[in-house]
Amino acid sequence: MPRFKRHLITSALPYANGPIHIGHLAGVYIPSDIYTRYLRLKGKDVIHVCGSDEHGVPITLKARQEGVSPQVIVDRYHELNKKAFEDFGISFDIYSRTTSKVHYETASEFFRTLYDKGVFIEKTTEQFYDEEAGQFLADRYITGTCPHCGYEKAYGDQCEQCGTSLSPTELINPRSTISGSKPVLRKTKHWYLPLDRYEPFLRKWILEDHKEWKTNVYGQCKSWLDQGLQPRAVSRDLDWGVPVPVEGAEGKVLYVWFDAPIGYISATRELTPDWEKYWKDPSTRLIHFIGKDNIVFHCIIFPTMLKTEGSYILPDNVPANEFLNLEGDKISTSRNWAVWLHEYLEDFPGQQDVLRYVLTANMPETKDNDFTWRDFQARNNNELVAILGNFVNRALVLTRKYFDGAVPPRGEISTYDREVLEQIPLIRRRTEHSLDHFRFREALKEAMALARLGNKYLADTEPWALVKNDKERVGTILNICLQITSNLTLLLEPFLPFSMQKLREMVHFEKTDWNLIGRDDLLPEGHQIGEVKHLFRKIEDEEIEKQIARLQATRTENEGNNTIKLPPQKEEEITYDDFAKLDIRTATIVAAEKVPKTKKLLKLTLDTGIDRRTVVSGIAEFFSPEEIVGKQIAVLVNLAPRKIRGIESQGMILMAEDPDGRLHFIVPEDGAVNGSPVK
Ligand code: 2FM
Ligand code: ZN
Repeated sequence: MPRFKRHLITSALPYANGPIHIGHLAGVYIPSDIYTRYLRLKGKDVIHVCGSDEHGVPITLKARQEGVSPQVIVDRYHELNKKAFEDFGISFDIYSRTTSKVHYETASEFFRTLYDKGVFIEKTTEQFYDEEAGQFLADRYITGTCPHCGYEKAYGDQCEQCGTSLSPTELINPRSTISGSKPVLRKTKHWYLPLDRYEPFLRKWILEDHKEWKTNVYGQCKSWLDQGLQPRAVSRDLDWGVPVPVEGAEGKVLYVWFDAPIGYISATRELTPDWEKYWKDPSTRLIHFIGKDNIVFHCIIFPTMLKTEGSYILPDNVPANEFLNLEGDKISTSRNWAVWLHEYLEDFPGQQDVLRYVLTANMPETKDNDFTWRDFQARNNNELVAILGNFVNRALVLTRKYFDGAVPPRGEISTYDREVLEQIPLIRRRTEHSLDHFRFREALKEAMALARLGNKYLADTEPWALVKNDKERVGTILNICLQITSNLTLLLEPFLPFSMQKLREMVHFEKTDWNLIGRDDLLPEGHQIGEVKHLFRKIEDEEIEKQIARLQATRTENEGNNTIKLPPQKEEEITYDDFAKLDIRTATIVAAEKVPKTKKLLKLTLDTGIDRRTVVSGIAEFFSPEEIVGKQIAVLVNLAPRKIRGIESQGMILMAEDPDGRLHFIVPEDGAVNGSPVK
């Protein structure tokens, strides 16, 4: 008996304050869609739920900027994004929203249950209040000078110049963004989820019971747990959100990250009266597809909520992806550095599968990855057109030409024919194995191996050269090609749903059963195929140049707007004696941990050959502590010690920085004894 009877797949609810871009697709929605389609083809009981996340401060900020109500904003983007997902074949069973009535009811009930069970701690703290506007200020509504770098427009929760996490009271000269006035501190009561109390449970559940989770996910959870969990406020002083359903909570709403994941439950409830079997029966397998910035919420906070509520199952896996960059730069909505789905479709109508294909082939599964238009063009022209499209087209066109579109009989089979046919079930198994482990790039590669196989088989057997003298042999070859083609309609369906639907129509093969893959008799002799159309078309240089030019214009515009001007770089000449003053040595990182409350800093312990010492390094955005322990590096050891965030840093790691800001260690090639001088 399989352990699970059914699957519940969730995809992160995107905020309804902006359109969907390729980063969203590659990170969350393409993997979840491939996986769901795969399970559906296998005949599993599966539902895939998603919807708009319609609360939170950025939505209220945007509404204020536009002078409209938050409802206007969320209505606009809910519709836009719902359509974008449909257009790209992201096959949710429901795309709901967190302003729905059922969501308000579900989220309130959930809070109330935890409240009644005495799960929350109530705490009164002092928070900034805008006396002119008569309201408490969320962190994003406060700006001021960053105490670390002096940037004057730092937000109450973070300085976007130096990346440091802040609390509003740390800001120098804080201002309310609503009225511009100086905010005052006022007492306010909130409810906190005491995550620290559930640490033993979380440690066991994640670190012991879910060792199979992806290393990026497991590593991030471990590092959160190792840093120690703190109680988290689950309410806010705001007038947009689900009201806190207890007495004495006027003007307070649930924190967006408390209500959003409950949105998965509400969506299921809206979808089916049978929702409880998906959420409460332990034989359901719950899987959350998310981006890496959502890991703590889905692996630590939401599971704690579910666990304390008591009647819900917990996720069995959370296959989070890393981020996708665009042409070497972070995708950014505010800098308009993105490929928006609705704009893509204007320029490449009907070519959704090309984008799906390229984003899967480059999916940021284990590290951040880059989307470039040149790669998009190359993958389309060299893989989709030249391999898959070419094979299918030749197989079908030749069948129509030589056999009037009827599947020819299979005559005598050669050893080569047999070997080719035997490959099909093997390719299926390899694809399945990759899909079962959420390795979608690999799965696509495996599945495409069948198209490559077909293409090679046709090129090797050259039926066009045999037709005059040995039509029977040509029939056998095309029969085999047609069996490969019908297998492809199933094997590639999760990845390229539009094209495979088209192909199914061309070959008049309507079955959608994954379990048929591997058979060599899917199209019987005499079966009539239909009209042949091209699956893909070549993408020309001009089309790509237009996209690159558009991005270039955005870049220029952004540079023009950039208020922080960097001084021109000038390399000053130094003498050999200057250089000789630098004592650079090889060393090994023996321990690494994040510096709490910072985004960029890691505290490293180095074995420098001479001693063990601590170095604080600004590399946390690129490397997790787990991945760098054991690494040999180069370090400047005679730099004057400096206190960074209260930690004495005794040296500096040498790094190479890409033009796009990515960092790379300088590593001695074949290893070196620690302490070896670098000259
Ligand atoms: O990061 C985001 O875009 C959030 N709106 C994701 C929410 S996921 C879930 F919890 F709803
Ligand atoms: Zn700063």
